[in-house]
Amino acid sequence: MGNYNNMAFLVLALVGFMFLSKANGAIHYYDFHLQETNFTRVCSTKSILTVNGTLPGPTITVNRGDTAFINVHNQGYYGLTVHWHGVKNPRNPWSDGPENITQCPIQPGTNFTYEVIFSNEEGTLWWHAHSDWTRATVHGAIVILPAAGTTYPFATPDAQETVILGSWFKGDVMEIIKEALANGGDPNVSDAFTINGQPGDLYSCSNGTAYRWLVDYGKTYLLRVINAVMNEEQFFAIANHTLTVVAQDASYIKPITTSYIMITPGQTMDILVTANQPPSHYYMASHSFMDGTNVSHHNGTTTAIVQYNGNYSTPSITPLPTLPAEADSTAADNFTKQIRALASEEHPIDVPLEIHSRIFMAVAVNERICPNSSCDGPDNNALSASLNNISFVIPSVDVLQAYYQGTNGVYSSNFPDNPLNPYNYTGNVTSSTIYSDFGTRARMIGYGEGVEIIFQGTNIIAAENHPMHLHGFSFYLVGTGYGNFDNTTSPKTYNLVDPPEVNTIGVPKNGWATIRFKADNPGVWFVHCHLERHTSWGMDTVLIVRNGNTTETSMLPPPAHMPPCSKS
Ligand code: C2O
Ligand code: CU
Repeated sequence: MGNYNNMAFLVLALVGFMFLSKANGAIHYYDFHLQETNFTRVCSTKSILTVNGTLPGPTITVNRGDTAFINVHNQGYYGLTVHWHGVKNPRNPWSDGPENITQCPIQPGTNFTYEVIFSNEEGTLWWHAHSDWTRATVHGAIVILPAAGTTYPFATPDAQETVILGSWFKGDVMEIIKEALANGGDPNVSDAFTINGQPGDLYSCSNGTAYRWLVDYGKTYLLRVINAVMNEEQFFAIANHTLTVVAQDASYIKPITTSYIMITPGQTMDILVTANQPPSHYYMASHSFMDGTNVSHHNGTTTAIVQYNGNYSTPSITPLPTLPAEADSTAADNFTKQIRALASEEHPIDVPLEIHSRIFMAVAVNERICPNSSCDGPDNNALSASLNNISFVIPSVDVLQAYYQGTNGVYSSNFPDNPLNPYNYTGNVTSSTIYSDFGTRARMIGYGEGVEIIFQGTNIIAAENHPMHLHGFSFYLVGTGYGNFDNTTSPKTYNLVDPPEVNTIGVPKNGWATIRFKADNPGVWFVHCHLERHTSWGMDTVLIVRNGNTTETSMLPPPAHMPPCSKS
């Protein structure tokens, strides 16, 4: 019977369609146990918060398009959240993680399962705690392999390796930021940089404990480098070995052959390394890139050892790579300027050409007036930071919940498209520009809009490079420059052909950076500088992307058990 057959075909087709569109990727399950664990580094032992007792924490490995369920069990002493840095999590801000932005903290003795939905990310990302300074020890890699049946846009590497750059503090990180916010001064700088949790041979009491990467002569490796450092951008290199950078922030780029990279906190880079040197031991090393003057920061060098397998006599001297000098902004620019999207048929780009929302954001470190001029910051005031003269105040109930339920009084939707008080951003700034307003202001964006944000670095207090990060999206970096952004001349320099698609960009010191993206992910998305002390001081805001007209363009409903916002 014709009708019956047609019907059966339709049902089959529908089921097939649902299968293809929904259950495309595999599902993975992970258990994260947040627990206090003892570690000894740079001559001191302390208890730190870890995931499953390791530093860095476990690696999440998926194929492009998969979904991971991560059950976070908090066995520590304070509430905390986890963020999946660079994962867009389409329509699912409920699992994005920033504390009191998309959820309240997971309280000790409780657990919460994140549903992390991968879409077009391919390469390396990472996860980290997103509550105060807990990410110092609570972080790990996310490896996203090509989808089943597809391959890399380069010869398949023989093996892979992950290197996470981190910060080690002798003190308790939660206490360090609490104290700094209370007295208004700069937080203590870290006591070491680390590679995969180890400071390396150049730090005291660390000789012989450096991380070792064993390689076979002749093999080509895909080295995934993640900058999880708290407050410093980094140069990184491997002695005698050429680096071929092939991806940034889980998006392929045109290969760059270089002897060093500059990587900001939040960024990831995939690098091909061929073990083609005489079998021996070679150092990989990293120290900060810091072009700000009088900005307190850690200035040590962390090392790890690339050790060739085989029979040879252990070298008496292990060569160190030559890293650019700490303040060498030319070296940083020379590397960064080469980054262009692969923009191939298999990995196309889609830069919005029509812009509906254009937001100019002045990025500044500020002063906050201190009650009785008794603070440790400049002028006896407290250090502060802002976007468009507004220092972001983290609310006590998450913005996402307030938005979803229509609760008043948690945030306002009037984040301005220009600074409240425009000034000569990169000139000699006067006292009137030193202070900022305070508030929890969000910028509303319609679904599907083409969005352009111009981050303008400023010269207040201490000009420096700021790694700006946006949740929920990757975006195209279409242009950067020094000085004040110029409405006429600056846009003429934009690259709309093959700009890199990334989630974190370093805004040059006293310069600007323009990003573009399509607002096709409804939800509440945090924007902030990824230098942790700047985040803490208020260099943050929130973008709220409204739902579209269909279910497929609207936020998913919240999971059944979001962590409650007040502990009882
Ligand atoms: Cu990697 Cu809001 O963070
Ligand atoms: Cu910053």
